[in-house]
Amino acid sequence: MICAVLSNEPIAPGVFDLRLDMGAAGAEQKPGRFLHIAVGLTLRRPLGLCEPGRVVYAVRGEGTRRLARAKKGDLADILGPLGRGFPESDEPTLLLGGGMGAPPLLYCSRSLKSSAALLSFRGQRSVILASDFANCDVHIGERFPAERIGSFGLRRVFACGPRPMLAAVAKECARLGLPCFVLMEERMACGVGACLVCACAVTGGGYSRVCADGPVFPAEQVAWHG
Ligand SMILES: Cc1cc2nc3c(=O)[nH]c(=O)nc-3n(C[C@H](O)[C@H](O)[C@H](O)COP(=O)(O)OP(=O)(O)OC[C@H]3O[C@@H](n4cnc5c(N)ncnc54)[C@H](O)[C@@H]3O)c2cc1C
Ligand code: FES
Repeated sequence: MICAVLSNEPIAPGVFDLRLDMGAAGAEQKPGRFLHIAVGLTLRRPLGLCEPGRVVYAVRGEGTRRLARAKKGDLADILGPLGRGFPESDEPTLLLGGGMGAPPLLYCSRSLKSSAALLSFRGQRSVILASDFANCDVHIGERFPAERIGSFGLRRVFACGPRPMLAAVAKECARLGLPCFVLMEERMACGVGACLVCACAVTGGGYSRVCADGPVFPAEQVAWHG
């Protein structure tokens, strides 16, 4: 799909907010699904939907550096929305985001009732989107406190962030008996289940494709130390 860039503005050092005119793809956009964006290199780059027609991304390497140069009116070559997102129900949920894990969770927050968001960032300058989680009880910190998960008294956890953080969340949720869903970020090539570049070890042996079987998985399905 070719769509117009509506804006692409920095919102924190090295972090950009890209808005796209996605037109007819509106109904396929769901929390946890991602866009596979062409950046003028061999491989596209996956970015999670932060809201319909919106992704928020950190500049990490050549691909995101090129994307950061996109301007209003440019045309973007997008595959997607792709993947399986978070479960759809408005059950009270604790959203746990580490750094750039916050954007996909913002999309979840829009449809959840009586929820809380616990977001951790490396320093005040890295904080993004905190005020956008308008219908959540938002807590911001520098360290991710897994031991606080139970204190919120919520019935379910959605988490997105660095793998060590997700592993700690999965462990604590298993201890508490809380259902937990994690968004896994693996490097990708095709994005549609054909190449196995994004394989992620699963419990019981074998692998799942993060792009097509995920990127959202029940935490107990991931072989965290596999
Ligand atoms: C489903 C999914 C959703 C994502 N959503 C977001 C998002 O909302 N915002 C955001 O900023 N980033 C997100 N990412 C990560 C993003 O895809 C990578 O940061 C990006 O592809 C890096 O491309 P690059 O060419 O700039 O960097 P590269 O030059 O390719 O790599 C730079 C550095 O980033 C690491 N890296 C590259 N790709 C990934 C990856 N997929 N996961 C983890 N580390 C990676 C590399 O190991 C290297 O250290 C998501 C990834 C996936 C799979
Ligand atoms: S990126 Fe090709 S199978 Fe997932």
